[in-house]
Amino acid sequence: MNILVLGSGGREHSLAWAIKQNPKCDRLIVAPGNAGIAMLAECADIDILDGAAVVGFAEENAIDFVVIGPEAPLAAGVADALRAAGILTFGPSAAAAKLEASKAFTKEICDACGAPTAAWARFTDAAPALDYVRKMGAPIVVKADGLAAGKGVVVAMTLAEAEAAISDMFGGSLGAAGTEVVIEEFMAGEEASFFVLCDGASVLPVGTAQDHKRVGDGDTGPNTGGMGAYSPAPVLTDAIVEQVLAEIVRPTVAEMARRGAPYQGVLYVGLMIEHGHARLVEYNVRFGDPECQVLMMRLGAQALDLLQACAEGRLAGARVNWAEDHALSVVMAAKGYPGGYAKGSVIGGLDALPEDSFNMVFHAGTAAREGQIVANGGRVLNVTTRGASLAEARTRAYAMVDAIDWPEGFCRRDIGWRAL
Ligand code: AMP
Ligand code: GLY
Repeated sequence: MNILVLGSGGREHSLAWAIKQNPKCDRLIVAPGNAGIAMLAECADIDILDGAAVVGFAEENAIDFVVIGPEAPLAAGVADALRAAGILTFGPSAAAAKLEASKAFTKEICDACGAPTAAWARFTDAAPALDYVRKMGAPIVVKADGLAAGKGVVVAMTLAEAEAAISDMFGGSLGAAGTEVVIEEFMAGEEASFFVLCDGASVLPVGTAQDHKRVGDGDTGPNTGGMGAYSPAPVLTDAIVEQVLAEIVRPTVAEMARRGAPYQGVLYVGLMIEHGHARLVEYNVRFGDPECQVLMMRLGAQALDLLQACAEGRLAGARVNWAEDHALSVVMAAKGYPGGYAKGSVIGGLDALPEDSFNMVFHAGTAAREGQIVANGGRVLNVTTRGASLAEARTRAYAMVDAIDWPEGFCRRDIGWRAL
């Protein structure tokens, strides 16, 4: 099989790593890829938001299967273009990707199918939104409707914060993403993520995870794209997973099919758990980053079979072979992230690290320069490990972190604390 993966982060490095281990994979191309991905696959510099360009590239290279990593090409309809050209594709249509691209759409789907989630209201003007938050009081959550690269949600602990968020969003701070605003009830509890493959009708759970969104140890400081993750998430007990499948996931999948937008791909189910009951926080229409890295570490080569069964509509007969294992990923970021940071610092010590089914350094934002690996983004490396226990995985991960020579980088030292 000739396989094309779209994306350039640690998520796509881990997808490529798992796919490459499967003997079905003959040729593997990642577009655009990064310096770590280039060590295990061919990289191709194409515009992955341009459906026609991706189809053209796939046809020229006799690609049999395309796996789409990030949300932007999905929202742009790249999966639709590929399927219209008869190319097997993993990832939802633009119509189904609205589950991530529009917060109000997701809330409508929840209401239509009775999925438990925070109470909400939608606004297209600042004045009624301000009236509403003054009536409801804080804490309250203000969200830009559209895709805002993780910057569209303000969990306002005071009324003043909520008012400022509303003024900013309608003032154009997030561009078109903020022309509509969703205001939600604040949900207390513990957050966790649940990942299911969906082929339009059947669903197959592929793991649970928790990430660490704050930049500092002890969950302090500003929000980031994620500073680390581990799988499984102990808070998602079998009973809660059953509740989530019965009350949230299956009703959503049925409602999407009923609307003529069947969901095919991975559904990232962001949950808030309180008193043994889960409510939906959000859907994403792609694997999480760095949650994907821990899931791929646990699934290994079978990931390709599962993604293919999903794309071919064969999930009803598919199953996951679970090991009794735990995986953990520590994000190493450039100093200054999530604020301003420098690019181009040299990262040493990578060559001496193990690369096997228990230890992998996935590259998130790196480039190769004169034979060296240099930092090329905010989140730069994902040191990812597996073990018989989470504690064992964590010991391995920090041993690798400590062997990396990169004075311009930093990481959290407490990934996994909640579960340990
Ligand atoms: P979202 O992009 O919708 O996942 O929101 C980003 C983060 O904001 C979530 O991971 C939660 O930590 C937080 N959040 C979003 N909605 C709520 C809510 N209704 N109550 C409490 N926290 C929320
Ligand atoms: N780690 C959070 C996300 O991928 O959205």
